[in-house]
Amino acid sequence: MDSLVTQFEEARRQALESLRQAEDRQAVENVRIHYLGRKGVVPNLFREMGKVSPEERPLVGKTANQTKNEIQAAVDEAFNRLAEKEEPDAGVDVTMPARRHPLGTKHPISQVMDDAVDIFRRMGFIVADGPDLETEYHNFDALNTPADHPSRDVQDTFYLPDGRLLRTQTSPVQIRVMEQQPPPVRIVCPGRCFRRDTPDATHSMNFHQIEGLYVDRQVSLADLKAALTMFAHELLGEDVKVRFRPHFFPFTEPSLEYDFSCIMCGGRGCRVCKNSGWLEISGAGMVDPAVFQAVGYDSEEWSGYAFGMGVERIAMIRYAVSDIRLLYENDLRFLKQF
Ligand code: DAH
Repeated sequence: MDSLVTQFEEARRQALESLRQAEDRQAVENVRIHYLGRKGVVPNLFREMGKVSPEERPLVGKTANQTKNEIQAAVDEAFNRLAEKEEPDAGVDVTMPARRHPLGTKHPISQVMDDAVDIFRRMGFIVADGPDLETEYHNFDALNTPADHPSRDVQDTFYLPDGRLLRTQTSPVQIRVMEQQPPPVRIVCPGRCFRRDTPDATHSMNFHQIEGLYVDRQVSLADLKAALTMFAHELLGEDVKVRFRPHFFPFTEPSLEYDFSCIMCGGRGCRVCKNSGWLEISGAGMVDPAVFQAVGYDSEEWSGYAFGMGVERIAMIRYAVSDIRLLYENDLRFLKQF
């Protein structure tokens, strides 16, 4: 029988030869199992080493370890070589179309709010913020709304047990801002509002407004009209006209409602504007001296205008949406259009 040293060397020669010829990773793995596996050639030879005489043992032991290490190194090397070669077509077909991840879009309400705020920013307004949960004081009292005003009724307002309420309008932000800073003021406030309305095509219990407030010396109704007209032109186009109608709000005097000419029919009259040629946007007016008094502004020195606008209204006009409820259903078939 060949000496163990010879047998180890023969095993190494054969193993390295087989690895050189291996053409795929499975072949390399087979070689590895055959020579280095638990019952493989090399471990079997290791088991023979017990029979070796003490004089021969150092040489045999050294050969044994070298053999094992060299085969292992050659196996690793063969795996690496084949990995590099096989990778491009090992399960990856580079000609396949890429997997696309669906991209979301901005909700039409957010689009209108962002665009509107952008326009007012360019006109020098800064953005202010207030809480959705308001005090009666900020939502009503400080805005000169008498205790018996119908809008304060539980039928219109969601009250909390602690007396606070879900704000019915963004107007309380006017109060919060004026409480915090002396005049002049030029802010817009986009935000969510809540009312106990029965939902239908034009009403939702939860909707959005953008509030505006401008306080300075000698501000006039003409300034208000200029700002709203410029806004309408920027948002909806140069052809849009703005119309003011007398109205009443507790916090402005005089008060007015304002309309934009219908962009669907150009003011000729259609289904969207109910043949009137005009679309109601919201209310506005000159800040009532009683509101200035509530926040400690001197109404002899300062004057201002304020306005609110319904974001859903504008979104429905801009995107020709016929039912406000579509804006809240989160139906992707609807939302993907914007
Ligand atoms: N807050 C009013 C509403 O929700 C809209 C409004 C009217 C806001 C006149 C104003 C304003 O700032 O001056 O109906």
